[in-house]
Amino acid sequence: MSNQKGAVLWFTGLSGSGKSTLSRMLEPELRKRGCNVEILDGDEVRENLSKGLGFSKEDRDTNVRRIGYVAKLLSRNDVIVMTAAISPYAEVRAQCRSMARNFVEIYTECSIDELCKRDVKGLYAKAISGEIKNFTGISDPYEAPENPEIQVSSETQAPEDSLKEILAYLESNGVIPAAEIANA
Ligand code: ADX
Repeated sequence: MSNQKGAVLWFTGLSGSGKSTLSRMLEPELRKRGCNVEILDGDEVRENLSKGLGFSKEDRDTNVRRIGYVAKLLSRNDVIVMTAAISPYAEVRAQCRSMARNFVEIYTECSIDELCKRDVKGLYAKAISGEIKNFTGISDPYEAPENPEIQVSSETQAPEDSLKEILAYLESNGVIPAAEIANA
């Protein structure tokens, strides 16, 4: 019998701050520990579940609520769900939290200066020039979590260190089994 418990690992942070990267790095680690895993990535959700939605507050809230709803369904069936959408509004994140039993909010912090320097997708330059409107962190709000269970920084930490920090939290809080125990 499996003693696996479901959970929602809710990544939130600005575009390019490391949500997708960390969720992808976490996936094999969770599987090693015998967990069922799904990732609901912002970009992928917008291609499928939320196709046609834009970036107004209303559309973002709809997008994020859909993610929260699917995460709830999966997590109550013992899946560890990782969500990786900006999810800029605290109120909707709180609603998603209240829907799931084990909710772990992970804030991927990074300064706007650093994100503009990296600008992997070239979107920050377009946001600053005004070519893209309502861009989170530049011309649209981002409400940083006040009490996230975990906060990591892609500015001051290597991704491997953030990963270690997340795994340590999840293990010590009983969200996932320790690697040694799971493989014993
Ligand atoms: S959310 O606000 O609804 O949670 P989501 O994570 O799904 O956002 O999508 C964010 C991604 O869409 C960004 O990483 C970026 O690639 C792209 N994007 C396009 N336009 C915007 C915009 N105006 N604001 C933020 N991200 C945008």
